[in-house]
Amino acid sequence: MLIEVEALEHRFTDTGDPVIRSFSHRFEPGTLTAVTGPSGSGKSTLMYILALMLTPSGGRTLWDGDDVQALPDNIRSRLRAQYVGFVFQDALLDPSQTALDNVLEAGWLAGMRADVSRSRARMLLDRFGVAERADHLPGQVSGGQAQRIALCRALVKTPTIVFADEPTGNLDSDSARIVWTALADAAQEGATVVVATHDRARATDLPHRLELA
Ligand SMILES: Nc1ncnc2c1ncn2[C@@H]1O[C@H](COP(=O)(O)OP(=O)(O)OP(=O)(O)O)[C@@H](O)[C@H]1O
Ligand SMILES: [Mg+2]
Repeated sequence: MLIEVEALEHRFTDTGDPVIRSFSHRFEPGTLTAVTGPSGSGKSTLMYILALMLTPSGGRTLWDGDDVQALPDNIRSRLRAQYVGFVFQDALLDPSQTALDNVLEAGWLAGMRADVSRSRARMLLDRFGVAERADHLPGQVSGGQAQRIALCRALVKTPTIVFADEPTGNLDSDSARIVWTALADAAQEGATVVVATHDRARATDLPHRLELA
């Protein structure tokens, strides 16, 4: 999916300074874009807008040329469930469900067949080294494990669009490498992948970078 933003503006309050101002960009399918910038520069805000979770104060958000931002809430939710895998900065797992059920829920919301979703969920949990935590509740896993489970949840539906907000913030270098590889693989397979990161060393190695000030 080609994601374009045009003349994007966002301020959280009427009188406050804009967090995002006159920002335009194209995020191409099949590419991984690293979004960098200091804390508070608007990386998470930009991803929420791109994922249609936050309505900006001004500008347009287009998916494959369609002005999706302007669609009603329920349609935007459907589009998100179907097309977007989102890894939140703080994992945001459902605390009442096991790791596996958190992952399966995203598959169910995307309309996946239960058996397909289950086998892909198992494969992803295994790939990210958290298979043995599958039956644990989020409160019983470490921060880095929760982050990897959240990544499984985002990837279970083989999403067309992947947003990952600091997905390696709590990870050791080996786990981080596995996560970066998985995100690069998703892009290789055609997804539009956008990753907010403070990992400058990693970001400078990537061909597509976006630096917020
Ligand atoms: N709901 C909100 N209401 C008011 N201000 C907000 C809200 N969410 C974020 N902000 C402000 O908007 C600015 C951008 O925040 P954002 O979370 O997008 O930054 P970030 O680049 O993701 O930072 P970090 O690297 O710390 O995650 C910050 O100054 C923040 O305080
Ligand atoms: Mg952030």
